[in-house]
Amino acid sequence: MEIIAVANQKGGVGKTTTAVNLAAALAVIGKKKVLLIDLDPQGNATTGAGLDKNELKKSIVDVLLDETKLHKVIEKNTQAGFDVAGANRDLAGIDMSLSDVEDAPFLLKKAIELAKKSGKFTYDYVIMDCAPSLSILTVNALVAAKNVIIPMQCEYYALEGVADLIDTIRRLKAINEELHVRGVVRTMFDGRSTLAQDVSAELENYFGELLYNTTIPRSVRLAEAPSFGQSIFGYEKSSKGAIAYHALMNEVIKQSDEPKLFEAKVRAQFDW
Ligand SMILES: Nc1ncnc2c1ncn2[C@@H]1O[C@H](COP(=O)(O)OP(=O)(O)O)[C@@H](O)[C@H]1O
Ligand SMILES: [Mg+2]
Repeated sequence: MEIIAVANQKGGVGKTTTAVNLAAALAVIGKKKVLLIDLDPQGNATTGAGLDKNELKKSIVDVLLDETKLHKVIEKNTQAGFDVAGANRDLAGIDMSLSDVEDAPFLLKKAIELAKKSGKFTYDYVIMDCAPSLSILTVNALVAAKNVIIPMQCEYYALEGVADLIDTIRRLKAINEELHVRGVVRTMFDGRSTLAQDVSAELENYFGELLYNTTIPRSVRLAEAPSFGQSIFGYEKSSKGAIAYHALMNEVIKQSDEPKLFEAKVRAQFDW
């Protein structure tokens, strides 16, 4: 089982779009067993998968507050083709609720470990959609995760923002030794724009092999799909957005298939 956090503390960079469509690609095309955990009080990934976030009986907040077990909040086989542990506004107060809890960073990790012990938690991939912050929710994701996919828009200040995330990942390695950046994906990419080209070159320079070859183009279809509670593969499977997320999935699966090669690339890039 691979646990991947999709994170970037900047909002609107394509985290949710990437989490949902990567999860869908892995499930629908890759035939993998996939769980998407929504860790954003906005609940966009929950909606994007076809669930009504306001109708959730139990959600991830109940798991983090230790009021229920992870498997009890999982909606199986959503319209988007994978299982979902949903979130909604109830998650917004979690920082306050956990302020006195000593093991607050470890709650999700513990919940996953407990679920694994039950023997029914048999996912190939667990994808976590993070909120646009480095709050306790994102810390929980980064403590539970094996690695991180960072969606980035090729704009000015793109790298500046991500430096804090890289710092956080570095610090969390003290408690999660294996944690590393799995890859950086350029989203809403327009290869004709000189700004995008310049920033892209900068990202190549900084992230080297950790930059995915696949770029996700700007596509209206990708923005429309969530309002139908569908992934791009359910909404328009021949669109350029679908083709791009399929290609990204291939790269992600290749990393899983060649862990040694991949780890060498990680080490070559960052002196952790
Ligand atoms: N490749 C894309 N093409 C067009 N619109 C996109 C694309 N990726 C994301 N969007 C849109 O941009 C907005 C922000 O994306 P989202 O995935 O919600 O970002 P985040 O989760 O990082 O805040 C949403 O309205 C989404 O539909
Ligand atoms: Mg989001």
